[in-house]
Amino acid sequence: MGSHESKRNLIIVSNRLPLSIKRVDGTYQSSISSGGLVTALSGLTKSTEFRWFGWPGIEVKDSKDREEVCKSLNEHDATPIFLDSGLAHEHYNMFSNRILWPILHYQSGVVYEDGPWQAYRRVNELFADAVADAAEPGSLIWVHDYHLMLLPELLRNRLQAKNKRCAIGFFLHTPFPAGDFWRTLPVKKHLIEGLLSSDLIGFHTDEYKQNFIDTCASNLGAHTEIPNQIQYKDRLICAGRYIVGIDPQKFADTLQKQEVQDRIKTLEERYKGMKVIVGVDRLDYIKGLTQKLKGFDSFLDDHPELRNKVVLIQVAVPSREDVKEYQELETELSTLAGKINGKHATPEGTPLLYMHRSVPFTELTALYSVADACLLSSTRDGMNLVSFEYVACQDKKNGVLVLSEFAGSATFMRDGSIPFHPANTTEMSEALYAALNLGAEERQQKHEFLREFVNTHTR
Ligand code: ADP
Ligand code: G6P
Repeated sequence: MGSHESKRNLIIVSNRLPLSIKRVDGTYQSSISSGGLVTALSGLTKSTEFRWFGWPGIEVKDSKDREEVCKSLNEHDATPIFLDSGLAHEHYNMFSNRILWPILHYQSGVVYEDGPWQAYRRVNELFADAVADAAEPGSLIWVHDYHLMLLPELLRNRLQAKNKRCAIGFFLHTPFPAGDFWRTLPVKKHLIEGLLSSDLIGFHTDEYKQNFIDTCASNLGAHTEIPNQIQYKDRLICAGRYIVGIDPQKFADTLQKQEVQDRIKTLEERYKGMKVIVGVDRLDYIKGLTQKLKGFDSFLDDHPELRNKVVLIQVAVPSREDVKEYQELETELSTLAGKINGKHATPEGTPLLYMHRSVPFTELTALYSVADACLLSSTRDGMNLVSFEYVACQDKKNGVLVLSEFAGSATFMRDGSIPFHPANTTEMSEALYAALNLGAEERQQKHEFLREFVNTHTR
């Protein structure tokens, strides 16, 4: 789909746009959004033209300001759907991220409230209004992620009323949990019914896909006898597994830049004679950051001979900072990081560099490139594109991926990585030790396996 025509016809809808807007000193500024959804879809822009609809990440009241924001986003083929801050808070923080996100990631003890659910419905309706107006007959509408699970149904109704026939696809970027877990959500039926107005529903792994199909059968009585098909009321819906990947060329090109090469040299000099482990995660409890720091502490206890010879550089990108659980996690992590360094520091330095901030893409690429190992400890994770990105930057070093068995990517990358259970600190410590001591030949074999996978699953 490289033609100009495809631009008219493909509409992408997600809560998060590729650029998020912030107000700084009275002006609106945009910055690249972080997260796997934006990374995965941004990779598409090279070959496919589309319009992207979503929430700009901030309330913009004044109509002149709205024009300014629209103009700057339009330059990137993005169209904002404006929401007032109260509604956005209830939809994004309260329902999507405090109720749905934890259930999708197997967290128990989630408290359901009706107010946020009403806001969730309302925001899905507002999205449906905007997209139904913009769509043309024949448009392909591709909806993304858990913030918009009601959208396919609301959209289909509006398109029918306007006599526009459009295909609707949906992709879920998170896991879909086993039926018994999903059952705990009081509005479970509405959400999956909302999705079943899609023509095609995509998932990262076969497990998530099958969990969804089984849930449609048990919750709605849908017919699911034919593999990958769901017959519900008068509709036939296809469910598929699609491996979302990255654009490896973007990393190869960035690594060539003089600025990045200089930065790599500086870092190599700084950590000469040491083993560098890198971790890059949004600051989210699903990433198992508490477990990672505890596992690293255990590793340092187990290997006093590695004192001053190993460093973990952990980037924790700020995320969802208005949600209580994320604030509490940040406090817990900074305390834990302080304790670990207090326990293991020497006058020569500290073994843990915990950075609670976003880093520029060039710095991220340099960090991936100098690291002897990448440690990812998700307790649940839809896919985890950081694991792909590390591999894309390791052609020279053949560094080792130490990957939690609960990351979606572990389904495909297990043989090329060193897997471990994130809650088992002994296992994590052993996995790290094995990674840092792997022979050159074995590192090369593992890297080649992963490289092949990353290069052949580029979108
Ligand atoms: P999740 O979607 O849960 O955040 P992923 O590992 O799939 O997890 O994706 C995270 C993405 O965010 C990666 O592509 C990573 O490069 C990107 N990222 C990390 N830090 C930044 C940053 N500072 N700015 C923009 N993107 C970032
Ligand atoms: C995950 C979700 C995305 C989300 C991203 C970043 O990847 O699946 O939908 O955009 O995290 O989170 P945020 O809340 O900042 O959009």
